[in-house]
Formats: sequence, C-alpha cells, structure tokens
Amino acid sequence: MRPATQWRVGDSFDVEVGDVAHGGHCVARHEGRVLFVRHTAPGERVTARITGIGKGGRFVQADAVQVLRPGEQRRPAPCPYAGPGGCGGCDFQHLTPVAQRALKTRVVHEQFARLAGLDLTAELGQTRCEPLPEPEEAADSAEEGLGWRTRVEFAVTEGGVPGLRRHRSRDIVPVSDCLIAHPALRAPDVLARRYPGSDAVDVVVADSGRAVVPVPTDASPSVTETVRLPGGPASFSVAARGFWQVHPAAAQVLVEEVLEMVQPRAGERALDLYSGVGLFAAALAEAVGPAGRVTAVESEPAAVEHGRANLAPWPQARMRAGRVDRVLRELRPARGRRSRRPVDLVVLDPPRVGAGAAVIADVSTLRPRVIAYVACDPAALARDTASLLSLGWRLRGLRVLDAFPMTHHVECVAHFEPVRETGTTREHRIS
Ligand SMILES: C[S@@+](CC[C@H](N)C(=O)[O-])C[C@H]1O[C@@H](n2cnc3c(N)ncnc32)[C@H](O)[C@@H]1O
Repeated sequence: MRPATQWRVGDSFDVEVGDVAHGGHCVARHEGRVLFVRHTAPGERVTARITGIGKGGRFVQADAVQVLRPGEQRRPAPCPYAGPGGCGGCDFQHLTPVAQRALKTRVVHEQFARLAGLDLTAELGQTRCEPLPEPEEAADSAEEGLGWRTRVEFAVTEGGVPGLRRHRSRDIVPVSDCLIAHPALRAPDVLARRYPGSDAVDVVVADSGRAVVPVPTDASPSVTETVRLPGGPASFSVAARGFWQVHPAAAQVLVEEVLEMVQPRAGERALDLYSGVGLFAAALAEAVGPAGRVTAVESEPAAVEHGRANLAPWPQARMRAGRVDRVLRELRPARGRRSRRPVDLVVLDPPRVGAGAAVIADVSTLRPRVIAYVACDPAALARDTASLLSLGWRLRGLRVLDAFPMTHHVECVAHFEPVRETGTTREHRIS
C-alpha cells in the first residue's frame, strides 16, 4: 500500500464512514487524510476507491465500491445506472427516501451552523426536509421519489444515442430509461429515438405532464406551465430551455410558501428579484392589488420577454430587465430620507451561487418589512443568512423541501424579518 502522500486514482482501502457532507458524499478519514466518499451513508464500513484527488492533494474523492457493513437504511438502488461509475445524476438511490431526507436535513443544519453561526433547532425548533406531493402520473411508480423530473438534458453520443453523464465527467452513459424522469418523458419514443448530429437534447414535460417537447440544441420553443394562485389558475409561458422548477409540484408549493411568509397586503410595494418568467411576481401582484406595485428583476432576455407577457393581466406588475445588483443600486433610497420605506417586501430566488453580500446589503437598505429567500443551495443561503444577520435581520422560519428526490439537492425557503424596525447593525459572530 502506497503512503497517503502518493495515493493515486484507482487505489482503494477500507474505511469507516462518518457524517454526510454537502455535495452528495460522506466524510471518511484514512491515514490522516480526508476522503469524500459517494454511494455510502454515515456509519457504514466500505471499500473506497479513489476517483479524484483535490488541488494540492488537500482532499480525496472516492466511490464506495463494496459495502462491508451496510447501514440500516441502505436498499438496492432502483435504477440500474445509479452507483459507482454509473450515471452521475442521482447521489442517494441506495438509500430509502426517508434516509435521503434525513441526510438533507443534516446538511442544511450543518451549513447554517458553519456558515451562519446558527443552531437551527435552537432558533426555530424542529426543521426537517419534507417531501413534496408526488406527481399524479407517477402514482404507478414502484417507489416514492421516482417519476418527478420534468426537464432532463440528455447528452448524445457520437452515434446519436441519448445518455447521461458520469459524475464529474464528460463521459456519456447510454441509458434506455431514467427512473426519476416524469413518466411522459420516459416514453419509448423519447429515449429510443436517435438524435444524430446533436450533442445534447433537452426533453421537457410541460403543464404537469400534458405536453412532451424534445428540444434539439438549435431550437427553443416555448411551453406553458399553470400554477393555482389564490385568485385562480395562472399560465406562465417559458422557453423550453429556460428556468422553471423541475419538480412538477415545486412551483405551486413555493408560491404558497412565499405568500404565507410575506403575507402581502393590498397597496404594498414588492420586489421579485431573480424573477425568471414572473412566477412570484404574479402571485404578489394579485395579492397587492391595483393599488400596489410589483417590480420583477431578471437579466435573461428570453425570460424577461416571457415575463412581460405573463404579467400582462396585472398592470401593477412590471418587469425590469437587468442585473439585480445594478437595479438595486438605482433603487437605493437617497441619504437622509428615511420617512417611508421604499419597498414593503422582497422575494429573492437567486441562482446556485446565491445573492452575495453586496446584493443583500442593498436589499437591507430598502428596509422591507419582510424578506422571503428561495434557495437551491443551502450553502449559498447560509452565507447570505450570515450577511442578513449582521445587518440586523433574524431568521423567522425555514422550509426545507425535497424538490429533487434521489439527488443530494434540496430547495429551501427562508423567512427574514428585521430585528428592530430601525434595521441597525447588530453583532453576530460566525463560528
Ligand atoms: C433560480 S431562478 C428563479 C426564477 C424564478 N423565481 C422562478 O421560480 O421561476 C434564477 C433566475 O435568476 C436569473 N438571474 C441570474 N443571475 C441574475 C442577475 N445577476 N440578475 C438578474 N437575474 C439573474 C436567471 O436567469 C434565472 O431566471
């Protein structure tokens, strides 16, 4: 056996698996080095084979290629393509859905403790990752957590065969099925088809399974999604390759959760930052009514165009094309003028990297009475939470939603309120 400093990809050894870490792997230690091991769970003993060595050898990535002592929640992965060396899409197929959610809960708590200095249980009481409603069409799926994904980008081999990429690789694993995909998308005419001349094909199941649209890379049709707002159903057109939640229940659940957190009142002024095609802006516009005002901010031109059309029924809502940081700079209140708050409530739903300290500071300067923050990365949310806490905000609530079963991904919605109306800075230490 080589000494730890000379380990190479392909070396393997037996390890005790410790806690889960953000990213779909668990931490193990061997000969003083840290390994991030996929396809395992805390408390297992496995043979780990090195798949990658981090910059400067600071950490090592590995796959559990043999299970020597299985955990209680281990089960055979339903998908034949999941597992070491297989498709890189699902991290947790080898665990029951309950165990998957327990790991996601643990990751969210750990990220908030480490990056925001917050003990979620002490702050909010029990905070657990909750399942979303299963899509009706997936009712005949053999297992919970399958049949939900409404948007999949298949990579295409040189021979035109659709497949999925291996973990951290450009290699394509040809697949004849994808069990987490929505049943309409798993239809043989999608995956048995050949796509010669394409590098990739996106397949989109729109409007809760009523339309299936394969999208070659050189075309960009639009699809329609429907969400029930308190006043009735609303339609959203979106580019088939543009942003929309991939779990068919997610958009509905998120809108309801955001409205519950911000409790919009008639006549209020709201900001929907990183608005996409206007999902939250529409719900806010309906709630604040004709005397209110909603500004949706989005930088992607196609989303702005769709958003303008989607928000047409609510003249009190408008789309601002541009980057959130730039638009916020324009909205900053003039120095010394603190009479009326410029904005009553803010919803933000940034991409994976989060909003960042500068955007958070500008949002705080607007002194809204409440902020709802929708996040697809708990680490980014925890970092931005740290910024908010240091600016005089407190975390009032957090929902953790399993919007991506079988994968390590998780969606969070956080609810912030000012500690004091003056919004003055308070000390907050991050451990
Ligand atoms: C996670 S999506 C949220 C979309 C929308 N809230 C929804 O639920 O459908 C993030 C959106 O932010 C947009 N975006 C990314 N960076 C941005 C920036 N700096 N300024 C404005 N929009 C941005 C993306 O184009 C994308 O539409």
